[in-house]
Amino acid sequence: MNRFWKGIILPLFNTIKPEVIVEVGSFKGENTKNILSSYCSIYDAKLISIDPNPHKDFDLEYFNNEFGDNFKFFNSMSLDVLPNLIDYNAILIDGDHNWYTVFNELKTIEKNFNQDSFPFIILHDVSWPYARRDLYYDPDVIPMEFRHPYMKLAMFPGVEKLGKIGLNENLNNAIHENTPKNGVLTAIEDFIEDTSLDLAFYSINVFYGLGIICQNTEKNRRMILELFYESDMAGVLENIYLKDRFNKENVIKNNKSKIKSLNNSYDNLNNDFSILLDINKDLKSQLNDLEKNIDNLENNRDELENKVSELNSSLNSQNSLVKNLNKRIAEKDKDLAGLNDV
Ligand SMILES: C[S@@+](CC[C@H](N)C(=O)[O-])C[C@H]1O[C@@H](n2cnc3c(N)ncnc32)[C@H](O)[C@@H]1O
Repeated sequence: MNRFWKGIILPLFNTIKPEVIVEVGSFKGENTKNILSSYCSIYDAKLISIDPNPHKDFDLEYFNNEFGDNFKFFNSMSLDVLPNLIDYNAILIDGDHNWYTVFNELKTIEKNFNQDSFPFIILHDVSWPYARRDLYYDPDVIPMEFRHPYMKLAMFPGVEKLGKIGLNENLNNAIHENTPKNGVLTAIEDFIEDTSLDLAFYSINVFYGLGIICQNTEKNRRMILELFYESDMAGVLENIYLKDRFNKENVIKNNKSKIKSLNNSYDNLNNDFSILLDINKDLKSQLNDLEKNIDNLENNRDELENKVSELNSSLNSQNSLVKNLNKRIAEKDKDLAGLNDV
């Protein structure tokens, strides 16, 4: 809804000058801030915002302090608050995007409106993906008979089946689309068909679709079609498309140069690797030679040890021979001394 503020919603408000505005679905409060600062504070108009579970960035204190009596917030669901609101000139519906909620929001507005002026109803998500498919922020609050089977899976344009790639994969999306009582646009069409009031519905099919329901007068028809035309949404979209295209082209260019430098590094690494392979080969052959040398040295050592032990044993036998000889010499010396005495 935020994307339509400058191009469509503010110009509409500046033309119809609503004194009281209702906002269903505040989320981060971006549009809340737009309405308060660019419209309500200029025309002293009031804004009533409703959201049972606004985003953590929604700064209620700031809104209360900054805009005082011009702002009132209901931390509740639209269907609990709308029955008590009677006198407003414009309402923005961007809350729970399912048939049951939107149809009953519209029926409540119809029931409560002041006979003199039917409020301008501005609705978001009247095109793909929620035109013909329900979303449930809180499935438990939707009566069973109106709740379609749903899953937390993504939606892809032109594909009925939910899947892993696409939009809003973290939300409870109805598994089937294009069935009765399913989706925001279906709720609007069913409401227009059901009402006895003379109402018209206009829509613009960009940014998930913006629709306006108002009294079916020539003045309203001209004003809204002019707003749609002058908002130049096609131009806004083209701008986004071009920025996105150039961003992507830049990313591709950057990625190409990264790939080139990675390829260079890869070649360098390959060179280094082949040098290392050669060194490794060399070292292996040196190691081989060293191992052979060690084997030889070990063999030599064994031989030398054998020889030493052989020499030791021969030395031992020589020693005992010398000992024997010494003993015999001593005996002979003794014998000789005896003979000399005789
Ligand atoms: C798509 S966001 C609204 C975006 C906002 N309007 C903007 O333009 O930035 C939908 C919001 O609707 C709120 N929501 C869900 N169910 C709701 C209900 N039954 N009544 C009111 N708000 C509801 C969600 O909590 C969420 O913050």
